[in-house]
Amino acid sequence: MPVLVVVGAQWGDEGKGKIIDLLTERADVVARYQGGHNAGHTVVVGMDEFILHLIPSGVLHKGKKCIIGNGVVVDPAALIEEMDGLIKRGIKFDTNLLISANAHLIMPYHKAIDVASERLKGNKKIGTTGRGIGPAYADKINRRGIRMADLLSPERFREKLSINVGEANFLLERFYNAPLINQDEVYAEYLGYAQRLKKYIADTTIYINEAVAKKKKVLAEGAQGTHLDVDHGTYPYVTSSSPTAGGACTGLGIGPNTIGEIIGIVKAYTTRVGSGPFPTEQENAMGEHLRERGREYGATTGRARRCGWMDTLIVRHAVRVNGFTSIALTKLDVLDTLDEIKICVGYKHKGKLYKEMPSDLEVLEQCTPQYITLPGWKQTTIGIKKYAQLPKKARTYVEKVCKLCGVKPSIISTGARRDETIILERPFQKALKK
Ligand code: GDP
Ligand code: IMO
Ligand code: MG
Repeated sequence: MPVLVVVGAQWGDEGKGKIIDLLTERADVVARYQGGHNAGHTVVVGMDEFILHLIPSGVLHKGKKCIIGNGVVVDPAALIEEMDGLIKRGIKFDTNLLISANAHLIMPYHKAIDVASERLKGNKKIGTTGRGIGPAYADKINRRGIRMADLLSPERFREKLSINVGEANFLLERFYNAPLINQDEVYAEYLGYAQRLKKYIADTTIYINEAVAKKKKVLAEGAQGTHLDVDHGTYPYVTSSSPTAGGACTGLGIGPNTIGEIIGIVKAYTTRVGSGPFPTEQENAMGEHLRERGREYGATTGRARRCGWMDTLIVRHAVRVNGFTSIALTKLDVLDTLDEIKICVGYKHKGKLYKEMPSDLEVLEQCTPQYITLPGWKQTTIGIKKYAQLPKKARTYVEKVCKLCGVKPSIISTGARRDETIILERPFQKALKK
């Protein structure tokens, strides 16, 4: 089956961008299936760094079709800005980009409500990216969202806009005490975006399913991560979409039987941006070390990421709910200088030992993580391309993590660049054999 799904296994920022860029070499189509410009996917090519937000991370490869699927929420201003930034750096957009006509739009009132709602929550805030993601998905589920296709029909667009701005302004004024949205300005602004984007808007399900029928290799790109999933994550400290593998089917309009492989991207330690429980967080010199050596600052908002040890309970949960066929273990090199490395193998809470991730947020917030300690390898692994060349203690770490998580590695990443990678198996070859 020619579809390969790439999913973050933790709380996002696992290095999906790097792995997707790498796998794109063998792919024909790269399609984002959820999220919006809350994502920041970094791709490093030589000395150049690109941060992709809405545009699939395969865009740097010529001749590959990039698709923004129906499950994505699109802020057209952000999309155009991203396109322009890439055009300046030599990337062309002609027939290589398609945007689903069914993708929902992020409107200025979504952003205003996102920001105002976070402000009102005070210390209970989610720590969103403030991009309007939650309110846009809320409108979609509430059946009053505005979709890309509506942009192509000015009358329909005006009608929907009028109803939505009316309601949003009521909320903004009466509930949030925030500035109002000017409907006429938004109308004119968005029709301008329509002119620019209309040639890319299409029924992307036809394109993808035809590609699948022709056995073309399709890479389905997830944003965020399993523990930010609205169903399977640490609710309510999550995003408003389904980054887990099932989201690839609904977010692209493909059947589950088209999927051959599902790769979980697992960072060799753990990070999280925004609020919510994080049992293995290290609010100390170790966390600081991981942040500095791993350059753990948000690719979208620049916020410092919270850092901590590898938590095999959260990865095992991700293996379970996504059905990972293998993992790509990233940022192993960040651990190079440590004397000792800890791996969380359980949680203790009120005398009870948890061996699987509990769904009760209170347990996650209050538990004491149980660790095993492995010796560090104290040697550089940066840029290593062969598994046998990794220091023995680094291989022991990789093998221990994989055993505890119940999954095999297909890729190990030893640096941000494309070539700083150990490839253990060819995921597309495996996918096509199924
Ligand atoms: P994404 O959102 O999952 O695509 O991840 P981000 O791009 O937000 O964050 C991952 C960061 O780690 C980026 O700065 C990458 O360039 C970098 N990175 C990816 N893989 C590796 C690796 O194996 N080693 C190191 N040192 N950096 C990496
Ligand atoms: P990539 O794709 C890490 C987090 C936010 C916040 C929560 C909800 O780069 O891995 P939202 O704006 O989505 O309503 O915020 O989700 N978040 C991410 N954290 N990486 C991301 O994307 C994220 N996208 C959203 O910090 O805690
Ligand atoms: Mg990111």
